[in-house]
Amino acid sequence: MTTADRTYNFSAGPATIPLKVLQQIQQELLNFKGCGASIMEISHRSATFIEVLDSARAGIKQLLEIDDSHEVLFLQGGSRLQFSMIPMNLLRSAEDRAAYIVSGTWSQKAYDEASGAGNIDLAWSGKMSNFNTLPASSDLSLSDDPAFLYYASNETIHGVQFKEPPEANNTALVCDASSDFLSRPIDMQRHGIVYACAQKNAGPAGVTIVVIRKDLLDRSKANLPGYLNFKTHVEQNSMFNTPPTFGIYVIDLICQWLINDMGGLKQIAEYNLTKANLIYEIIDQCSDMYRGHAEHEHRSKMNISFNLTSDELTAKFLREAGQQGLNSLKGHRSVGGIRASIYNAMSQEGVLALRDFMKSFYTQNS
Ligand SMILES: Cc1ncc(COP(=O)(O)O)c(C=O)c1O
Repeated sequence: MTTADRTYNFSAGPATIPLKVLQQIQQELLNFKGCGASIMEISHRSATFIEVLDSARAGIKQLLEIDDSHEVLFLQGGSRLQFSMIPMNLLRSAEDRAAYIVSGTWSQKAYDEASGAGNIDLAWSGKMSNFNTLPASSDLSLSDDPAFLYYASNETIHGVQFKEPPEANNTALVCDASSDFLSRPIDMQRHGIVYACAQKNAGPAGVTIVVIRKDLLDRSKANLPGYLNFKTHVEQNSMFNTPPTFGIYVIDLICQWLINDMGGLKQIAEYNLTKANLIYEIIDQCSDMYRGHAEHEHRSKMNISFNLTSDELTAKFLREAGQQGLNSLKGHRSVGGIRASIYNAMSQEGVLALRDFMKSFYTQNS
């Protein structure tokens, strides 16, 4: 098996990982930094692992430009557990209310789950148009002084992405950034929590990164079960239970790749924009065959969802793309069609290969 055998992987997650990172993992696998064992085989309490944990945390803080204002936690349970943990921790009393923007499948699920944990108001929903658009801040209906305003910065299935975080006066923003974490700069001072499962932009499945502003930790009630209380994880240095050590190691390598090879978040954001435009240009030029799901101004730079004119043509597209080494392009069943996920680690070369395929497929089938 050589690197030449690797195909272009447009999976929505778990997703492609930078080749350089995979190669480093391969090199270090049998004997991690001279300790005589792999990273998977050593104690999470060993100095060797703690150094990795500290480095991963420092990498995230450097990329997000945060210092002591926020804590960075490495948790398990996926982003899904955050759907419950966030309202459980941030709603202080039976009177507290939180507001949710529902802009796609994932924020819908978060809203549904949170509704069982406290008073949750719907600030806006895009369900009527099958989540192809996003609200302006003036469209939001907010009660007086909500405990937090929740949104998903990028909806992985519907391919809509907020250009800027919503405006909500001084209300703490809580952001599910699962599918665009570390893909662009984010104003952390406006956010109480930004969280992301790792398996799209930040690492392998099994770790969820939660970045939480320190003052919010006081809201967590003492009677919450240990694992479900953010404070526990801060106090235990993300080692309340045995942490997903291998995943945290990969996150560390990906942060180093972002900092040292890709030049940080501003640069990767430009790279991601260039890549996304290459595909959207073809969708616009060939719009009698490729029908983009999201409205232009809300198009995601990470997940490009579009339909073809028939199921047969879609099946043909997927088959022929696969023959050319362009894989995992099938859209989610709720939108259908095609979804090209082009996270940080998808190279411009891979995007160009997809663009060329889309062009020739259009010529041959229209
Ligand atoms: C935006 C978003 N939020 C939440 C999730 C759920 O993540 P997990 O499967 O890690 O719980 C996903 C998964 O694809 C997602 O894309």
